[in-house]
Amino acid sequence: MSAGLICALDTADLGELTALAAAVGGEVDLLKVGLEAFAAHGPAAVAAAAEHAPVFLDLKLHDIPTTVAGAARAAAAHGAAMLTVHASGGPAMIAAAAEAAPETTVLAVSVLTSLDDTALAAVGQPSAAEQVPRLAALAVGAGAGGLVCAAAEIAAVRARVGQAPAVVVPGIRPAGTATDDQARPATPEAAAAAGASHLVLGRALTRAADPAAAAREIRASLPPRSPTR
Ligand code: C5P
Repeated sequence: MSAGLICALDTADLGELTALAAAVGGEVDLLKVGLEAFAAHGPAAVAAAAEHAPVFLDLKLHDIPTTVAGAARAAAAHGAAMLTVHASGGPAMIAAAAEAAPETTVLAVSVLTSLDDTALAAVGQPSAAEQVPRLAALAVGAGAGGLVCAAAEIAAVRARVGQAPAVVVPGIRPAGTATDDQARPATPEAAAAAGASHLVLGRALTRAADPAAAAREIRASLPPRSPTR
């Protein structure tokens, strides 16, 4: 089995989201509804995606534990299979989300893949190499089912949390394609070989002339995951 594929349905146009979900839903393991689609259409965006594959609701929750618990409960009620919170919200917040949504895999976003070490220093944070494994251990210890991080940090994250938690990796770009606003990108092959459980594919699919064919091509290129992962 290779790493799972997740298509990011990043659009505010519900018709476009529905068409993309229908086109790629059979080729990927989950469909990701993010802030753009959810801000525009709310639960209707989740329902449209859920017609075609399990839904990853990427809301990156970050608030006091009580508020995040309520939001996680509501997100789970929409049928989200995966849900994100920010690891930097702290262990009590992560635990509150995990307890409020026991049937949903709560993923902790470590450090956004759009941030490089200069940007992290500007907000008073240590390098990604230092911060991501620390947040990974904290999040899994608090009850998160997995992490979101860049490919470069997977080995250090696996060393801290082992092989069981999901490690979901955005910033994926096939070799030779534009990296856009992603500061810590990787190819699908490199991220899978490093131990990612899931790859998030946004513009790698949405910019392709045939997103379903692009997903098939990426899946065919991936190395098998070791049975311990
Ligand atoms: O188009 P692209 O592949 O860059 O899209 C990446 C997707 O992954 C977006 O939906 C973005 O919100 C999400 N994401 C990310 N970095 C994180 C967490 C989520 O890029 N750390």
